[in-house]
Amino acid sequence: MDLVELVASCPPLDVNSSYCNLLQCSHFARTSVAAEQDGGLVGFVSGYIIPEKPDTLFIWQVAVLEKVRGCGLASRMLDQILTRHTCNQIRYLETTITEDNQASWALFKRFAKTQEADFQASAWMDKEKHFAGQHDSEVLVRIGPFQSQN
Ligand SMILES: CC(C)(COP(=O)(O)OP(=O)(O)OC[C@H]1O[C@@H](n2cnc3c(N)ncnc32)[C@H](O)[C@@H]1OP(=O)(O)O)[C@@H](O)C(=O)NCCC(=O)NCCS
Repeated sequence: MDLVELVASCPPLDVNSSYCNLLQCSHFARTSVAAEQDGGLVGFVSGYIIPEKPDTLFIWQVAVLEKVRGCGLASRMLDQILTRHTCNQIRYLETTITEDNQASWALFKRFAKTQEADFQASAWMDKEKHFAGQHDSEVLVRIGPFQSQN
């Protein structure tokens, strides 16, 4: 399974263009991670360090194949990115979550709890204003500060 298929199998994630996925796997490789099982892709996290905030890792997408969910893979992938030398200045994690994505809320609340860090949520991308009614609103989550993981 390749990344396009993995993301497509993980609603409500937006399916990316192949071009976008290739940028995630090249320019953003140091802040992204892939998990394989028996040679097949089962998990992927894409992220980047926000250009104006060098202490903040933005998590773009988290995708875990349904058959391996609930085993801590998403949490381990987040932790793995943060152990890298590239992330030694990172003290905050940001992401966006739609109101009804319970698994995503649980994942990032668990991350904040593990890091003993504050968890703040605020409105950001609005269904009508930014997505012309075609996509649910995205709430901005900011977690931190936390200790360097490396
Ligand atoms: C969200 C997702 C990545 C979680 O992957 P996962 O590997 O199953 O997550 P983990 O096993 O690391 O679980 C992390 C925490 O979230 C909780 N959790 C996971 N799935 C959950 C669900 N469906 N409902 C409620 N809580 C859930 C776990 O119990 C765990 O918390 P705990 O340790 O306090 O019990 C996966 O469900 C997925 O790919 N969903 C579709 C795509 C998506 O919505 N991505 C997130 C938006 S970027």
